[in-house]
Amino acid sequence: MSEHTASTPSVSVIGLGAMGSGIARTLLEAGCQVSVWNRSREKVDALVSDGAIACDSPADALKANTHVVVCLTDYAAWKAIIEANDLNDCFEGTCIIQLTTGTIDAVWEHAVFIEEHGGRIADGAVMCYPRDLGTDAGSLLMAGAPDVLEACDPLLRILAPNWTNLGEDIRKPTILSRALMVDVGMTLIGIVNGAALASAGDISLDVFKQHANNVGSILAAEKSRLIEAIQDGNTQETQASITSWGEGQKAVRSVAQSLGTNLVLQDAVKTVFDEGERLGLGEHDLSALVDVFASDPGS
Ligand SMILES: NC(=O)c1ccc[n+]([C@@H]2O[C@H](COP(=O)([O-])OP(=O)(O)OC[C@H]3O[C@@H](n4cnc5c(N)ncnc54)[C@H](OP(=O)(O)O)[C@@H]3O)[C@@H](O)[C@H]2O)c1
Repeated sequence: MSEHTASTPSVSVIGLGAMGSGIARTLLEAGCQVSVWNRSREKVDALVSDGAIACDSPADALKANTHVVVCLTDYAAWKAIIEANDLNDCFEGTCIIQLTTGTIDAVWEHAVFIEEHGGRIADGAVMCYPRDLGTDAGSLLMAGAPDVLEACDPLLRILAPNWTNLGEDIRKPTILSRALMVDVGMTLIGIVNGAALASAGDISLDVFKQHANNVGSILAAEKSRLIEAIQDGNTQETQASITSWGEGQKAVRSVAQSLGTNLVLQDAVKTVFDEGERLGLGEHDLSALVDVFASDPGS
């Protein structure tokens, strides 16, 4: 841990799970004075041995510093902490840097609550593993009033040197992070499903991995191409139509069925392509599936 100096910020961290502990440690390593509180005491003690100051209650953590990072499982946990510890009067003059993953409604209601109780709010989404914090791979999407984000900047820079300012709309980090998680989630679920399929067909996972990496190398360029086609409204021109992609996916489903693997993912993919055909997009580019996703026909 570096020495705390007047030029390094002081901060409290509430919630010392994998991410909250990573945040507290990264701030300590940068020389910040860090006060910590967590429901389970052993996580506080582990941080104290790294140089943090223990708080006996969340109220103490809120009183200890103007800037307080909150990083919990969800907003319900934070609400439970506020209620159980009668914290309503502890937010006056405090800036909450809320890094808990939430729903749009929870994020909005929380911002209103903090401001009604005299606090300021910066809401964010962490887009990296705890081990990436403090490195160039650290990624934080943030929103809040310009003066709030400016005041938080020294802390945010320590966690993620290239943190992203999404402006004043407090919901934006939640929306962008979930949009990105669709991609990450589907890609990773896809690779796990592919591994199950390869194994069921007696293909070695070493061979699967080698080819998965080769196929995966086209993904970055293809993602950019799809986004640009949607941006330009140019989703008709294609080298592989939705119908031909759909046929390929039907073949995946048939192989999965022959090998006796679970078809839950193939059925979901089939629904997407069926919907594309129903909208008359069969001859269009894969990017035209944006019309399938653009609105919920059930709403
Ligand atoms: N881990 C990651 O790689 C990662 C990456 C990006 C974003 N995030 C986000 O960061 C946030 C924290 O994730 P995490 O990985 O640190 O989760 P975690 O390891 O499961 O930690 C959860 C934290 O929430 C606390 N908590 C849960 N319910 C509570 C309650 N009712 N009252 C008081 N405290 C409660 C836990 O306290 P106890 O220790 O007492 O159980 C712990 O401090 C989540 O919103 C997650 O989506 C995590």
